[in-house]
Amino acid sequence: MLEVRPCSRLEGTASVPGDKSVSHRAAIVGALAQGETTVHGFLESEDCLATLHCLSQLGVSIERLGPGAYNICGRGGLGFEEPSDVLDCGNSGTTMRLLAGLLASQPFFSVLTGDASLRTRPMARVIRPLESMGARICGRQSNTKAPLAILGTSPLRGISYMSPTASAQVKSAILLAGLAAEGKVSIQEPALSRNHTELMLEHLGVPVVTKGSRITMEGGVVPKGSTIQVPGDISSAAFPMVAAAIIPNSDVVLQNVGVNPTRRGIIEVLLAMGADMTVSPMDQAGEPRASIHIRGSSLRGIRVEGPIIPTLIDELPAIAVAAAYAQGTTVIKDAGELRVKECDRIAAMTQELSRLGVDIIEKPDGWVIQGHGGAGIKGGRANGFGDHRVIMALAVLGLGASSPLSIGGAGATEISFPGFTHLFGRLGASMEVSCSD
Ligand code: S3P
Repeated sequence: MLEVRPCSRLEGTASVPGDKSVSHRAAIVGALAQGETTVHGFLESEDCLATLHCLSQLGVSIERLGPGAYNICGRGGLGFEEPSDVLDCGNSGTTMRLLAGLLASQPFFSVLTGDASLRTRPMARVIRPLESMGARICGRQSNTKAPLAILGTSPLRGISYMSPTASAQVKSAILLAGLAAEGKVSIQEPALSRNHTELMLEHLGVPVVTKGSRITMEGGVVPKGSTIQVPGDISSAAFPMVAAAIIPNSDVVLQNVGVNPTRRGIIEVLLAMGADMTVSPMDQAGEPRASIHIRGSSLRGIRVEGPIIPTLIDELPAIAVAAAYAQGTTVIKDAGELRVKECDRIAAMTQELSRLGVDIIEKPDGWVIQGHGGAGIKGGRANGFGDHRVIMALAVLGLGASSPLSIGGAGATEISFPGFTHLFGRLGASMEVSCSD
């Protein structure tokens, strides 16, 4: 159980751990590269460690140099080894979908599996394009769910793919497969999803062209090993950002937060809600970063919909909490993808927020939330659905509630945010993990 006590003020300076999406890519692109890649700021969370473990099973030599620092010996494109056992991606959709892209071009048999949540998540979205490139992939339930059995093909064919969903995991799987394809690879998305794979490939010497939401790359190029700095994860920063915004008199600075334009929707939304926030860019190479200073504010309800959705998809549970503490109506639309995350986040947040006193209506693709400045929000017991972001969003809700809140499944915060309770403790909150879960 995660035990959260109401809090009167948050104050201090903190750094969130490394970005999950960038850490997965650093490991996978580093493994595909020619030569060595050194990664700093790697997120040592369960999801990203699952990626490292799967890569080791594929023969990649990975050395831990210190906290968050790794040296990865690239296999130069096609030099992976057939794994002698199934590859367990745990809870991590990014691990499974990106590795499916890597394995599509390796001329051997491999099986990707994961935990009960991951085995319910949609995989046809990566199977279809990778099969059109020439890989053979079989999955449960008519080729839609993991475990996935992959027989890679070399070389793959180029592809021009119109993706029905704005999904960085789908785009990245195709680009990673495309590194070993003959001809051009191009993907058109309905809206631009996070572009970390494109930036990282460019950084490792692979030209990638982005025009609007079309991404094009010439196949058959091997990235060159390099040094990668992983910024702090804005998806983790979202929790202390929302907490500081909703708790009166708070004053919090979060340092070294990744503010890539394809990820920073939470900043635009909190500013539009009236948050008192200053974003100061940091002068560094690689992914853009900033220091974010946020103070307790009176928030107002807004509409969140359209192309901004992919830039804040993982932050929507936290945004729903901000809406619950705002004054007025917040409408969140076009976010049907939330139903196929680690749990059905639309249903889970509706159920738990209603139970804790929030006026929330579930829609097929989002919510309508009537905020009353937090009035009526109470503690008690909540179900975290084993979903790290649901648990952390509920914890933030609990900080502003009228009584203590106990949330089931506290351990799941390790999926993406090791040190979550510690960081909040440093800012003055009382959050504790108790053993009775
Ligand atoms: C991710 C992309 C997003 C996001 C997920 C991480 C990534 O998913 O929700 O947490 O690292 O590529 P989709 O690409 O499926 O939208």
